[in-house]
Parts: sequence; C-alpha cells; structure tokens
Amino acid sequence: MLPSKDYVKKLADRYGRKEENLLPILENVYEDQHLIADDVMIEIARELDISAARVYGTATFYSFLETKQCGKYVIRVCKTITCMMHGKNLVIEALQDLLKIKVGETTADGLFTLKETNCLGQCHKGPAMLINNVVYTELTPGKVKDIINEYRLQEQASA
Ligand code: FES
Repeated sequence: MLPSKDYVKKLADRYGRKEENLLPILENVYEDQHLIADDVMIEIARELDISAARVYGTATFYSFLETKQCGKYVIRVCKTITCMMHGKNLVIEALQDLLKIKVGETTADGLFTLKETNCLGQCHKGPAMLINNVVYTELTPGKVKDIINEYRLQEQASA
C-alpha cells in the first residue's frame, strides 16, 4: 500500500484540489481502505488546503463513511420508524445472535460490523439493511440467516 501522502496525492490529482472534491475523495478512501484514518485525513486537508477539522467533520457526518476500523462487511440496519414497525428489532436480534456481537461491534474474525442507520429509502419494503453497498429488503430473521450464511460461504470459498 502507498504511504498516505502519495496515496492522497494521487486521489487529489484524480478528483481535483477544490473543497467540493472532499466528499468524493473521502468516499474513494473508504472504498479502498474500509476506513478513513487520521493520517489520511491530515493529508487530504493538506492537499486541498482546508482545515483538518473540516475533513474530520465531513468524514464523521455521513453514516456511510467510517473513521474507525470496521469489518470487511458493514451491515447497516435501518432504524427509522417504518422499518421499526415492520420488525427491525427482530432483524437486529437475529444478526446479534448469528454474529455474536452487539450493534456497534465487529466480529472477532474482522468480517462483519453491525450498525444501525437512518432510512435507506426502502420503506415500502422494510425492514431493510445494507451490507456495504448492497440493499436487502423485506427482511425476516430467517432471511437474515440465509444472507449471512451466503457471505460466510463466499469467504470460505475465496480463502
Ligand atoms: Fe427503513 Fe425507510 S424506514 S428504509
């Protein structure tokens, strides 16, 4: 992996060094590294000539960006009212049982992080969740079990 300085310089070359390019740069970092580390934020601030506080503020504002180490797969279950009314708590309980972690935690093997998030725009098909960028809807505890098993099998196959 490139040192942070060279890595961020390449991103700034690609996206541009204007403040309006901050969010796409952060999204790209998160896609590459599954987190936006402090040293990378400092380099972004330097390249874009903005304050580190501005970079940190943006990186921590959006729930789809992470500044702390997460698992390879970040599960985000919608906690907003419609999904809540359609059994979101049962989905969370099923995930916690399957993964042996609580909301906000990461599995010991580093594969899954479990989080809650606001509305995913899938209210008519709730409860809904995202695993990285993939949306899953009309969830039940049984469906969640099948989905997690699929990810585990996929990991075993690629190991
Ligand atoms: Fe859950 Fe909108 S309330 S997707």
